[in-house]
Amino acid sequence: MKILVVGSGGREHALVWKIAQSPLAGEILAAPGNAGTATLARNVAVAADDIEGLVRLAADERVDLTVVGPEVPLTMGLADRLADAGLPVFGPSAAGARIEGSKWFAKELMQKGGIPTAAAYLANTREDALSRAGELGYPVVIKADGLAAGKGVVIAQSAAEAEAAIDDMLVRGRFGASGKRVLIEECLKGEEASILAFVDGERSALMVPSQDHKRAFDGDEGPNTGGMGAYAPAPVVTPAMLGTIKRDIIDATVRALRDADGTVYRGVLYAGLMVTEEGPKVIEFNCRFGDPEAQVTLPLLDADIVEVMVATVRGELDPSAVKTSSGSAACVVMASGGYPGSYEKGKVVGGLSSAGAIDDVVVFHAGTAERDGDVVTSGGRVLGVTGVADDLSAALVLAYEGVRVIAFAGAHHRKDIGHRALARSGAGSTGS
Ligand code: AMP
Ligand code: GLY
Repeated sequence: MKILVVGSGGREHALVWKIAQSPLAGEILAAPGNAGTATLARNVAVAADDIEGLVRLAADERVDLTVVGPEVPLTMGLADRLADAGLPVFGPSAAGARIEGSKWFAKELMQKGGIPTAAAYLANTREDALSRAGELGYPVVIKADGLAAGKGVVIAQSAAEAEAAIDDMLVRGRFGASGKRVLIEECLKGEEASILAFVDGERSALMVPSQDHKRAFDGDEGPNTGGMGAYAPAPVVTPAMLGTIKRDIIDATVRALRDADGTVYRGVLYAGLMVTEEGPKVIEFNCRFGDPEAQVTLPLLDADIVEVMVATVRGELDPSAVKTSSGSAACVVMASGGYPGSYEKGKVVGGLSSAGAIDDVVVFHAGTAERDGDVVTSGGRVLGVTGVADDLSAALVLAYEGVRVIAFAGAHHRKDIGHRALARSGAGSTGS
């Protein structure tokens, strides 16, 4: 099969890497891809949000399956356009992608479907937003309704902080149209986890639970990022809890989408959860694999991903075919100096082949490009170094060994990936 992967991040390199292991995979294309995907796929210079260009590429190349990595093309209707052209696509329709594209759409769906989530109100005026925040009490969460690249959420500790966030979004228009409506939401307490599930419109199969590290610095300090590292399995999600999550959250949401307006959801459904004292509650849904969650989930997926994706697209998913390997995976993100703020690009990355030569270490590229035979930085998150081993401590040792031999000017990474799971098991930090 000829397979096209849309996107250019670490998630997409991990997808290409996993797809390349399938006996069903022939040529793989990446649009636009990065220096990592280029080692396994043919990169084609079509941007991930160029819907016309992507449809033309898939048609011209007679692609057998298009796998969409990021949310933006999905919310723009890429899957619908491909399906209309008779081209198989892994990823939900625009109607399904509303689950990520509008936080209020997702919230209403959960409220109507009885799916556990934080209480929330929609507000589109400053006065209404302020009064709702006062009602819920502090801390309170202020969220832009639309897509904001992971930056549209503020946890306000006081009325003054809530007011500043509300003014930023509703008055100053910080997120443009995405922030014209805001959610004022109850602040949940607990530990977060990410659940990624294959969904074929009806059936679902959950992958290994994982945990992201959203803050820039050790100890969960500093600004929010796209994710500085991840590990799986996340022990905060117990095996018993997984059954509840499948039934009451994933399957209930797929059903709610169908009942609401006939939306048949096919692709990956990602539930960002808070494991509270009352059980797991949904913080957000995404319509795609997580990044960097994919970089730890896919190495532990004991299945032919192409077979699973094809079955998902056809509405014939066999959940028993989606197995998880024993063992753990840990991914440490190496970011450009200054990220998530402004940063320079074009720094030469050294040590990639030495890191890649370490057994059970995989270096997933994110913001990288090729320049005159060198790999150079081209984004905020540059690499995700993943280690796979029998347990989390050993996986972390491997990931950090990989990080140690890679260098580029200004690089920074977190040294405490996995700290919550290690604290549970009583182990210390293995970071370097
Ligand atoms: P999101 O962009 O929806 O993933 O939110 C970013 C982060 O904000 C989440 O990963 C949580 O850490 C935090 N967050 C969002 N909503 C809530 C909530 N209702 N309660 C507590 N934390 C939240
Ligand atoms: N790691 C968070 C996300 O992919 O949205």
